[in-house]
Amino acid sequence: MEIIRIPRVMQDTASGHTLRGKTIGFVPTMGSLHEGHLSLVRRAKMENDVTVVSIFVNPVQFGPGEDFEKYPRDIEGDTGKLLKEEVDVLFMPDRSVMYSKGFLTRVEVEEISERLCGVFRPGHFKGVATVLTKLFHIVKPVRAYFGQKDFQQTVVVRRMVKDLNMDIDIVVCPTIRERDGLAMSSRNTYLDRGQREASGVIYRSLKQASELIISGIINVHDIEKILMGKILQEPAVSCIDYAGIFNPDTLEEVSEIRDDVLLAAAVQIGDTRLIDNILVKVKKER
Ligand code: PAF
Repeated sequence: MEIIRIPRVMQDTASGHTLRGKTIGFVPTMGSLHEGHLSLVRRAKMENDVTVVSIFVNPVQFGPGEDFEKYPRDIEGDTGKLLKEEVDVLFMPDRSVMYSKGFLTRVEVEEISERLCGVFRPGHFKGVATVLTKLFHIVKPVRAYFGQKDFQQTVVVRRMVKDLNMDIDIVVCPTIRERDGLAMSSRNTYLDRGQREASGVIYRSLKQASELIISGIINVHDIEKILMGKILQEPAVSCIDYAGIFNPDTLEEVSEIRDDVLLAAAVQIGDTRLIDNILVKVKKER
């Protein structure tokens, strides 16, 4: 596995592969890799000639008071995992080469960035869109891989790629879960044992709500009440940022269920903010 730290070197390596007619599959990450990331790597390896993984904890997507400083970092462990997966290139730039002195540019996807997590993390998706634009220009992928756990991120990235005519396929892969249903996330390492046990409530509640919808209960108010009620029954939950039913394309709240919907929640357990979602396919009446 080649380890590259300098954007110019990564660009030249990527151009070399492209000129030889090779396709590049790209998995952007912030490291502290778990099975969720590795599932993206395996898919990228299956579908492309060359697989590039980036590890970069992107400062501009963290707000003041968020966990940028304490975000888990495990370069040695991550490198070992990527070597085992036989990844071709690990791109691992420093902050100083990604955001050199005088950096002034931001990429913003309006409206959809301001909903759901955007309400509670203003500027977060602007930071994500900005770093991904840079990474896409540096790595030159044909396909880039993201997990469904970060559903809003996938909607924002797809819109950005479409609006800015970036010639990249955005591939969204299923959320990988722990045995009790908790979506895998690097932030799960913040949870102590009790909080970790409690956190299974998020997926259980979303699952129950999705089953109600599938069974034909389509009153949004009733379902949201059950969803919120079940999450709040768990004493370790300190706050619900949101838990509800949304249009999966626009991320607006829906007032009635007539088409596929997104059940999504962002919940604080202690100081840790966890997100999860389920996409519910609604049978259309003929
Ligand atoms: O999902 C993440 O880990 C990050 O938001 C990403 C896509 C690597 C951009 O920094």
